Amino acid sequence: MDDLRQKYLSAIAGAADEAALEEIRVAALGKKGEISLKMRELGRMSPEERKVMGPKLNALKDEINSALAARRAALADAALEERLAAEWLDVTLPGRPRPQGTVHPVSQVTEEIIAIFADMGFAVAEGPQVESDWYNFDALNIPPHHPARQEFDTFYMYRAEGDERPPHVLRTHTSPVQIRAMEAHGAPIRVIAPGRVYRSDYDQTHTPMFHQVEGLAIDRDISMANLKWVLEEFCRAFFEVDHVELRFRASHFPFTEPSAEVDLRCSWKGGQLKVGEGDDWMEILGSGMVHPKVLKAAGVDPGQWQGFAFGLGIDRLAMLKYGIPDLRAFFDSDLRWLRHYGFAALDVPTLHGGLSR
Ligand code: PHE
Repeated sequence: MDDLRQKYLSAIAGAADEAALEEIRVAALGKKGEISLKMRELGRMSPEERKVMGPKLNALKDEINSALAARRAALADAALEERLAAEWLDVTLPGRPRPQGTVHPVSQVTEEIIAIFADMGFAVAEGPQVESDWYNFDALNIPPHHPARQEFDTFYMYRAEGDERPPHVLRTHTSPVQIRAMEAHGAPIRVIAPGRVYRSDYDQTHTPMFHQVEGLAIDRDISMANLKWVLEEFCRAFFEVDHVELRFRASHFPFTEPSAEVDLRCSWKGGQLKVGEGDDWMEILGSGMVHPKVLKAAGVDPGQWQGFAFGLGIDRLAMLKYGIPDLRAFFDSDLRWLRHYGFAALDVPTLHGGLSR
């Protein structure tokens, strides 16, 4: 009896899993189990023997049953512990995002420009890309048949047959947002308006759709000097250099008087652009003092208010800053190009954190 007890209890203690336990149970207490057979022998014993052996066998059977149950519970506990340890997850850790895409250079540069002008107190304004010819031309002092209309290579939108009104246009510049912003907010006002513009033009530095940022600052005593400072400050911040030199060239736009195109001093030695040094000049924008007729068209009294406006090409700035040679590739959606020139999705440009890490 003691041998049996020893044998099964140590087998139970050593059982590695549920299946091993079941095997032991069948070997001991199954129909043909060792202990079951012993119990069957009780019938052939004398009453005296049975009196002694009966309770002993029953006690052994109970002991083995409870050892089996205890071991089964211990195995289940261990399995649970193991699972809990393996599936342990620290939900207080910050997320580990793995962004797949990249930020397009145009989006990146737009964010950089917004960050710089926001720091100078400019809000962001918007207008529609399909624009009436009033906002795109007339309100900007470009009447019908004015030769400047031809310069824009405008895409016209068809009207229904018999509709005599002038057709809408795909805006040829962001300047119509000057009018919309002044209509909406009056003066004083300080806004920039980044967005898409359209002209029928296609070569290495021109695409039919491209991006501009309009700038507009109107107050009681804003002058060309303020324009110059704002643009210099912008170039310093944008190109991340301490020294920049701008050249204002007299020019003509119907919506500004006087008007100036602005060039940036740079060098192109070895195909590398350096801003602020060298003997080359790169045209980066058009600008001027907002024409009184434009203020009037937007409902702002030119007797009381004056200010400057400028329009610069975002794509051009992106090419310059990041050394991207062909503008057309910007809009080909070639994944290899996007991965090469794109920016990390979660690096938002800020002045304090760095514009272009
Ligand atoms: N709208 C002009 C262009 O697209 C640029 C400009 C804007 C010039 C504002 C002067 C003032 O060429």
